[in-house]
Amino acid sequence: MKALILSGGKGTRLRPLTYTGAKQLVPVANKPILWYCIESIVAAGVTDIGIVISPETGEEVKNKTGNGDRFNANITYILQDKPAGLAHAVKISQPFLGDDSFIMFLGDNLIESDLNKFLNSFQQKQLDALILLRQVDDPTAFGVATVGSDGKVIRLVEKPKQPESNLALVGVYFFKKTIHQAIANIVPSARGELEITEAIQKLIDTDQNVEASELEGWWLDTGKKDDILAANQIVLDARLKSQNLGTVDTDSNLSGRIAIGIGSKVISCKIRGPVIIGENCYLENAYIGPYTSIKDRVTIISTDIEHSVILSDSKITGIHQRIVDSVIGQRVLMKVSPKRPQALRFLVGDDSQLEIM
Ligand code: TTP
Repeated sequence: MKALILSGGKGTRLRPLTYTGAKQLVPVANKPILWYCIESIVAAGVTDIGIVISPETGEEVKNKTGNGDRFNANITYILQDKPAGLAHAVKISQPFLGDDSFIMFLGDNLIESDLNKFLNSFQQKQLDALILLRQVDDPTAFGVATVGSDGKVIRLVEKPKQPESNLALVGVYFFKKTIHQAIANIVPSARGELEITEAIQKLIDTDQNVEASELEGWWLDTGKKDDILAANQIVLDARLKSQNLGTVDTDSNLSGRIAIGIGSKVISCKIRGPVIIGENCYLENAYIGPYTSIKDRVTIISTDIEHSVILSDSKITGIHQRIVDSVIGQRVLMKVSPKRPQALRFLVGDDSQLEIM
C-alpha cells in the first residue's frame, strides 16, 4: 500500500497567498495543511508516500517538508508540469505507484476521522475503489455520488447543475491498480482536465467494485480564505494544548488554552485562548482574541486581533480597531500612526483585499 498526496494545482481561489506560496503550506494552527495529510496517512500505517508538486511551488513544498524523516515516512516528490487534473496527477505518478494499491489524498483537505477503518474495508472487500462522501448543503460545487442501498456507487458527476444527491466527494480515495487503465480510457473534460470522477465512473461502467463510505467528524477543504479560518478554529478547538516556551511579563493577562513558542516575548498583553503563537514573536500592549494563530517572528504592538491567521515575519502596529476574520500573509507590514491618522498609505499586491469598516 502506498499513498499519493496532490500538492500541485493553481490555487486561484486563495490568491494572493498562492502567488508566492503553495496553498498546501498555509498554516492551520501553525502547521502546514499538507503535514496533517501526511500524519493521517502515516497513522494508518502507510509510509511510502508520493507527493505531486508543481513547478511554481514544488521547491518550497520539498524544502519545508523534507524526505519524510520527521514523519517516519519515505517521501518521493513527483513533478506535474501543469495542473491538468486529479487523474492526470495519478497518471504521471504511475512509475512511483507501480502495481500497488494506494490512498489518494488532496493536499488541501483536512479530515478529523482516522483512515484505518476505511483502509481495512477497502482491503478486506478487495475493492477497486473506495470513495469517501459527506452530506453537504450545496452539492453543485462538488463531485456528487449516487449510491445504491448496498453501498455500491451507481454514478458520479462533477459539479452537477441538478444534483441527484447531497453526497459530495471528500478529497480522500482508495484505489487498486485498475484505476490506471480507467484513466488511460478518459479524455480531458470541458475544463481541460483529466477528471478523477470520470475515471471512477469508467470503473463503475466496466463492473468493477466501487463502494462509498460516509465520513464522520469534520472535513475541511481549505480552498478559500474562510475555509482556512474555519479549519484554524476547529483545529485549535480540538487539538491545542497549553504550553509556554517563551516569556510573559506580569502585566499580561492570559486565559484559556494558549501555546507560546521558544523565544517569543509577551509584554502587557491580554490573550484569550485558544491562541497559538509561534517562535521568536514580539507582542506588546496587544489584545489577542480566541481562534488566532500567529506564526514565527511576528511583531504585534498596540493592536487588537481575533479569529485570524497571521503568517511569519509580519508586523502589525497601532491598530486598536479590532482585526477579525483575517488571513495575513508573510512579511506584511500594517501600521497606523500613533497620531490620529490623516491619510491611508498602501502598497497592496494584486488580488489583495482591504476592508476598512
Ligand atoms: P483544486 O483545489 O481542485 O484545484 P487548485 O489547487 O488548482 O485550486 P483552485 O481551484 O483554487 O485554482 O485541487 C485539489 C488539490 O489537488 C490541491 O491540493 C491541488 C491538487 N492538484 C494537483 O496536484 N494537480 C492538479 O492537476 C490539480 C487540478 C490539483
